[in-house]
Amino acid sequence: MNESDAKLWAGRFSKPTEATMERFNASIGFDRRLYAVDIKGSRAQAKALNRIDVISDEELGQVLNGLDQVEEEISAGQLSLTDDLEDIHMAVEKRLIEIVGEVGGKIHTGRSRNDQVVLDERLYLREVLAGTLVRMDRLQATLLSFSDRHLDVVMPGYTHVQQAQPVRLSHYTMALFWMLERDRGRFEDCFSRSDRMPLGSGSFAGSAYAVDREFLAQELGFSAPTENSIDAVSDRDYLLEFLSASAILMGHLSRFCEDLIVWSSSEFGFVALDEAYSTGSSMMPQKKNPDSLELVRGKTGRVYGNLMSLLTVMKGVPLTYSKDMQEDKEAFFDTIDTVWISLEVFTGAWASMKVDPQKMQASLDGMVLATDLADYLARKGLPFRTCHQVVGRLVKFAVENGKSLEQLDLATLRGESDVFEEDVAEVLVAENSTARRNISGGTGREAVMGQTAKGWRLLAERIKETEL
Ligand code: ARG
Repeated sequence: MNESDAKLWAGRFSKPTEATMERFNASIGFDRRLYAVDIKGSRAQAKALNRIDVISDEELGQVLNGLDQVEEEISAGQLSLTDDLEDIHMAVEKRLIEIVGEVGGKIHTGRSRNDQVVLDERLYLREVLAGTLVRMDRLQATLLSFSDRHLDVVMPGYTHVQQAQPVRLSHYTMALFWMLERDRGRFEDCFSRSDRMPLGSGSFAGSAYAVDREFLAQELGFSAPTENSIDAVSDRDYLLEFLSASAILMGHLSRFCEDLIVWSSSEFGFVALDEAYSTGSSMMPQKKNPDSLELVRGKTGRVYGNLMSLLTVMKGVPLTYSKDMQEDKEAFFDTIDTVWISLEVFTGAWASMKVDPQKMQASLDGMVLATDLADYLARKGLPFRTCHQVVGRLVKFAVENGKSLEQLDLATLRGESDVFEEDVAEVLVAENSTARRNISGGTGREAVMGQTAKGWRLLAERIKETEL
């Protein structure tokens, strides 16, 4: 074997890797995404080794320049990253040695790819979390301005896909805003637990060189080093947490997609998706399909699959590292790409969607105010259970006679309970139903305005924080 073609670990081998095995084993096809964070980690590692005199000042200068060059070459696409290089860690190291000579071989002193890959993933994860939160902020801002613009649109609210009570469209919209707040909290939690620096763990027993781990943590922007080298190299919780928070987020988007898809049907006609977020049919000329939302709903399955895939990979891996764990990356990267584009498309589709308030209003069925009617009797002193029965009988009568509740005259109402009086007319108006629900969190105008005002405040505070 030609020395320069040999793998960095080839010393104890007398045979080359079989070609299919080489392809099977290589992660460079996907972990090349980590090149910038890998090089960042190597810079810090070189500095830490310099502080304990494993690398001289002069050598440090050479290594840092060499790493700069490797980074430039990779970012310019000049370095061919082939399967024989195995993974990005070895590709960077090998190229560094080609550029600076033997001294490049010093940066792996006391380091293993086992702690290196954890470092790379954690560094990459923090960039990904920031990018995810920015996209979520944009969606939340879209929801807030949509709610403000549609504050007074009243629509039927559903349970069991049956009309239940009238609600404001803005109230419905703000439900997603608060789901996203919780999603954000999960991503922030993921960040805080991933905020530990693993270098110095070596393969798993801890490095035999007393690198200053506090220095490394500081240099790389972590709050502290990891506590236990065995845990540090075995752990993939930070990815599982990201995948899990992503799965929950996608589930939220997916439920809203489902509603909007149904609402955009000709039967409902509550909303119309913008053409820019719809596609046509190759056969049926009239079709305008909500593919943007269907794809977000569909890709949710894929993100769930990624979580399930990594959970399953990890469950049988004995401590510490086994190659199974290389399977973490595609699930991670695919989730990032899928969540980001889903957030972007969903935000665009929502922002450009047209609402038909008349259609929403007109579709309120004749029974949707039944609870309000029962509440009317309860406010006049009847026990709610009795009110429920009285109104239940009135509903039965109305259904049998093809009438809505509003169409029942006072005599009919009083036939079931003499508590009904003239003022009941005021109860059987959808706007009045929402107006009575000004309790915090409710669908009343002021209550929803309170929610959106609070939402805007939260967003403004966040923007201020990131500017600091
Ligand atoms: N490419 C490997 C991975 O992603 C890097 C770690 C390899 N470690 C090892 N001991 N072979 O998991």
